[in-house]
Amino acid sequence: MSFFRTKILGTGMCYPQRVFSNDDFAKIIDTSDEWITERTGIKRRRFASLEGGEFPSDLAKGATEEALQNANLKPNDIDLIIFATITPDYRLPSCATILQTKLGITNQCAAVDIVAACSGFIYGVTMAHSMIQTGLIKRALVVGAEMLSREINLEDRASCILFGDGCGVAIIGRNEDANDPSEILTTKIGADGTGREFFQQEYGGSANPFTPEVLQTSARFMAMQGKEMFRVAVRTLTDISTSALEAANLKISDIHWFVPHQANIRIIEATGNRLGVPAEKVIININEYANTSAATVPTAFHGAVKAGQIKRGDLVLMSAFGAGLTAGSLVVRY
Ligand SMILES: CC(C)(COP(=O)(O)OP(=O)(O)OC[C@H]1O[C@@H](n2cnc3c(N)ncnc32)[C@H](O)[C@@H]1OP(=O)(O)O)[C@@H](O)C(=O)NCCC(=O)NCCS
Repeated sequence: MSFFRTKILGTGMCYPQRVFSNDDFAKIIDTSDEWITERTGIKRRRFASLEGGEFPSDLAKGATEEALQNANLKPNDIDLIIFATITPDYRLPSCATILQTKLGITNQCAAVDIVAACSGFIYGVTMAHSMIQTGLIKRALVVGAEMLSREINLEDRASCILFGDGCGVAIIGRNEDANDPSEILTTKIGADGTGREFFQQEYGGSANPFTPEVLQTSARFMAMQGKEMFRVAVRTLTDISTSALEAANLKISDIHWFVPHQANIRIIEATGNRLGVPAEKVIININEYANTSAATVPTAFHGAVKAGQIKRGDLVLMSAFGAGLTAGSLVVRY
């Protein structure tokens, strides 16, 4: 069987226009900029317009256009779209097929949404990587996009302040140039369904459809047990990162950059400390954009590339953890 090396060909990101600061939250709920900053590291987040034009597929279109330009590719060069989201534009059809049309892709490429919460982007890259490695496809667009502002419960002040909207993408493709060191080296993905109650949304599916009564209450929104998530997050992120590094036969000191999921600055710092990553190697964007679930890793990565921090040839560890409970880690030479 053929076996191809894979690499990140290009990345992009897109956020809604509207900035919602901690002070804006303090006007509508009992909180303060001081509490949110100290407990989470978040200063502001973006909230998408309810008027349209900034739904997940719209943000994905903007981010993909940037990635295509960076990779010097055309929309029809994409063979597969994997769209990771827990907040799709519609129940049906998938965001991936909507995005295909919005991008003007006419090659009838495969298109699918995946639900792996905050680990969705890493799950998507893993799937794309293995399909490209085996020769099934040549190039995949992996999207992490969310509109979490629709699903936050303003009656739960500990969780509503954590989330934001945004999108990050990566185009993954073959690397057939033996002189080009860029490569996805290892990926690890996993889940532990027993932690389901730590972060869930109980209504709106087949088991508990929305009813007029439910729609009048906050039961319709996402519900999180923050302390439990915090504890499991640090342990799981550390374990899966270590296992991805071991599979790549690398030590943490070999890594130039660590791009963790952006859920809480204290989770990022605790994980970095456990892994032994110096603070200056950790990429952070939670202060500006909060937790955008599947979008945190690709936006943090892309932002660091754009800022000239992450350069071609650098070794990068990306790790995420989320509802499910899911987790994933990638080691790439960018
Ligand atoms: C949610 C989270 C920020 C809460 O932080 P915490 O330090 O655990 O805070 P607590 O829930 O213990 O609350 C401490 C106090 O602050 C109060 N508080 C909670 N939210 C507040 C807010 N937004 N503003 C002001 N005070 C707040 C609480 O009522 C509590 O007050 P009390 O001591 O008088 O009862 C934190 O647990 C967290 O980030 N968890 C993980 C989140 C995560 O990983 N999410 C997704 C993973 S994909």
